[in-house]
Amino acid sequence: MPKNICIVGTGYVGMASAIGLAELGCRVVGYDIMTERIAGLRAGITPYREAGIDEPLRRHLATGMVSFVTDLHAAVAGARFVILTVGTPSKQDGSADLSSLHAAVNALLAAPLAPSTIVAVRSTVPPGTTEELARVLDGRARVIYAPEFLREGSALHDFLHPDRIVVGSESIDTATAYAALFESLEAPVLLTSIRNAELIKGVSNAFLALKISFANEIANLCGEVGADAAEVLRGVGYDRRIGSAFLAPGIGFGGPCFEKDVRSLRHVARSFGMGYELLSATLRINNAQPKRIVDTLERELGSLRGMTVAVWGLAFKAGTDDVRDSLALRVLADLVERGARPVAYDPAVRTAMLPEGCRIAPSALDAANNADALLVLTEWPSFREVEPAALAMRLRRGVVVDGRNLFDPERFAAAGLRYRGVGRSLDPVQSDLAVAG
Ligand code: UDX
Repeated sequence: MPKNICIVGTGYVGMASAIGLAELGCRVVGYDIMTERIAGLRAGITPYREAGIDEPLRRHLATGMVSFVTDLHAAVAGARFVILTVGTPSKQDGSADLSSLHAAVNALLAAPLAPSTIVAVRSTVPPGTTEELARVLDGRARVIYAPEFLREGSALHDFLHPDRIVVGSESIDTATAYAALFESLEAPVLLTSIRNAELIKGVSNAFLALKISFANEIANLCGEVGADAAEVLRGVGYDRRIGSAFLAPGIGFGGPCFEKDVRSLRHVARSFGMGYELLSATLRINNAQPKRIVDTLERELGSLRGMTVAVWGLAFKAGTDDVRDSLALRVLADLVERGARPVAYDPAVRTAMLPEGCRIAPSALDAANNADALLVLTEWPSFREVEPAALAMRLRRGVVVDGRNLFDPERFAAAGLRYRGVGRSLDPVQSDLAVAG
């Protein structure tokens, strides 16, 4: 008999969890207060672009293994598990805004929960939150903390290929019952205390963000000493203890999670009067990176006033159409602030609230037509397919600032372009000095 599951909150995490659990044989009812989001999902339309999710979504909608409702009581009725995947954004002081989570739990108080129902908090929360929510539910259900480690854009893949299943609970039986949902997946299961599980999630994201800021700081150093950051970090990443993942320098980490989670963890440390130098440095380096990219472009052009700048990439990373907390938008605003005229293109983002003075082009090359320079802000693989010669004939000043180190500096220099990456650069090879053969 399929286990009945209710998912509260159908953003990219809730949606991917719903489809993933259906793929594991569960019957899932997704609930959200955002009725337009539910209407979209009912029609097989996801709120954000997610690889490989459209077909299973439609398939499970057709069989009724997945459904979406705006009535919480209907969603909870008969559910063995109620999984909370509502957003916990940052407040002004960096602490997590738990209001949506509390609203969801308060709504559950009036819903038909059974005492055997297991409520699994899945949102990223500061330690102590889940116990607080359990006190509110006051025995109407069993409460655990069960974090996800899903990357936006590849959330379903990550759901079905987890590195680990972490379950925080005060009861082994309850934790084991939840972990059983994932028994067909080949992943180690860590049953631990609720507080440990809450920290495992927050610390995982903080460390990934730290790793990116470390890569960016080292890349900035490479740029000063004339080394190639991509080569240096590639060499460092071969060390099995370090690993090459999340060591790609760029414009800084964006998106709805990293900045929020590092600020939240720092707020927790601060509330205990502890030092939090590494967490603050992670944020400081990241916040400074977008300006460094624009400074590089301004240095190459002398001034940005009146310059037309082709900007490739608006999404906070490749593989998504999400521009939430995308540093590309911060770069666009800085370009306009300095008097430039950005012409942007992103393969997944068709419309976005762009700063005044920005234009969206229908293609990458169209954006480059008659631009003075090119600035690359999102690591879309399709950008790599553009021939350097096609850029050399379009860019009036022949300058390329590659904010994601996507391109091969030698090929760009050979095409007569001035290539500036993040911690790597190469001047154009004069045609009469071009290396023979
Ligand atoms: C992240 C975590 O990876 C995921 O485990 C967690 O559940 C949610 O937060 P996400 O924010 O979707 O996922 O994207 P991710 O792929 O981690 O990238 C975050 C940002 O870091 C993006 O802007 C990306 O471009 C940037 N990044 C990533 C780098 O600049 N360098 C890297 O090497 C990797």
